[in-house]
Amino acid sequence: MSRLTVSPGAALRGCVTVPGDKSISHRALLLGALAEGSSHITGFLPSGDCRATLNCLRALGVRIQTHNATTLTVHGRGPRGLEAPTAPLDCVRSGTTMRLLTGVLAGQPFTSTLSGDQQLLRRPMGRVIEPLRRMGANIEDTAGHAPLTVYGQPLHGITHELSVASAQVKSALLLAGLTAEGSTSVHQPGPARDHTERMLAAMGADIQTSGLTVTLHPVSRLAPLSPTIPGDVSSAAFLLVAAVLVPDSDVTVTGVGINPTRTGLIDVLRAMGTDISVSNQHSACGETVANVTTRTSDLRGVTIEGDTVVRMIDEFPILAVAATQAHGTTVVRNANELRVKETDRIAAVVQELRRLGAQIEAREDGFVVEGSTPLHGAPVDSHGDHRLAMALAVAGLIADGETIIQDTDCVEDSFPGFVERIQAIGARV
Ligand code: S3P
Repeated sequence: MSRLTVSPGAALRGCVTVPGDKSISHRALLLGALAEGSSHITGFLPSGDCRATLNCLRALGVRIQTHNATTLTVHGRGPRGLEAPTAPLDCVRSGTTMRLLTGVLAGQPFTSTLSGDQQLLRRPMGRVIEPLRRMGANIEDTAGHAPLTVYGQPLHGITHELSVASAQVKSALLLAGLTAEGSTSVHQPGPARDHTERMLAAMGADIQTSGLTVTLHPVSRLAPLSPTIPGDVSSAAFLLVAAVLVPDSDVTVTGVGINPTRTGLIDVLRAMGTDISVSNQHSACGETVANVTTRTSDLRGVTIEGDTVVRMIDEFPILAVAATQAHGTTVVRNANELRVKETDRIAAVVQELRRLGAQIEAREDGFVVEGSTPLHGAPVDSHGDHRLAMALAVAGLIADGETIIQDTDCVEDSFPGFVERIQAIGARV
């Protein structure tokens, strides 16, 4: 179990890229496996989470050639062509792998078991199992959690109202709907990321979005896609916030996906007073891609609630670090979902930032930060949560003395090369 030592230092400057988008990388593999023909993927994220999806698909009979870490070819088997696995499928720590695969497997004509490590076994699966059961799925759970045994069945489409704005649940239902009888309609309470819908439409699926409702008709075939995956805005977030906080900094992250269902943090940073610009916008893989630049800025506290929370659901650990340096109060509410991420992110973020001197308090559905507060280096812990580990590393860049973050192997779950990239723009990590 490795650790990171971070010290404050010089300004952060330069242009940097980030690895491919995690959500899109999972979907490129899964949908490539269900296509008829070969999908050539470039810009794939070679992280622990995406490797879990890749290995599960191989165990389901899908041939995947890796040309190098970020370029691969998936030889699709069609929507009904997967093979029964001979052992439980190991989703490791990846909630996206487990929830999306459950949707895929519910309608396949064989039985499969999905499992993972202790962190994943603690995460709620009822939200995906219950609506799938309404579609006719036969899934055995362990008190609402994995391991799950999926006894593949013929499914029928349903109309379903999501109780939480979860892209994983929405995607699981749409993936199950591909082979169901009749149409599947999912209504979401907020704008959860829509990469599955965009990719399915590009593959020729009969799918429509009207407001917050997505309707899909079953398919007999999906055309293969050869996507170039944009950089992950959720990874760029750490570098962009670091540049906002470290004096005299100016950093551009190039080639970042700026799908509006993912850019809540950019809007919030702007509202806090950040000097942030978005340039060179173009389209790739049905997604908008751009360069994003931030410079050192004076920040003010804001209130974050409603749809904005959904559009930045993975960015709250790093937002909390920014809020410690904002003048006034930052309030996060309607963010109960943070309680069931890789960790209870409300409790873990509050506990660890307090060790560094932040004035932050937990609320049932979010947290409140009073700023600005000087941070001081201290030993802290990632709780095995990749995004908390990286947020604490950024906090260490503005804390006096040394910040030592325990248990940082998890950074590889979403951002392999984080340390090298933040060092490349001048950080002392
Ligand atoms: C993801 C959806 C989000 C997000 C996760 C990735 C996805 O989870 O937090 O990191 O790829 O669909 P929820 O669907 O649980 O909100």
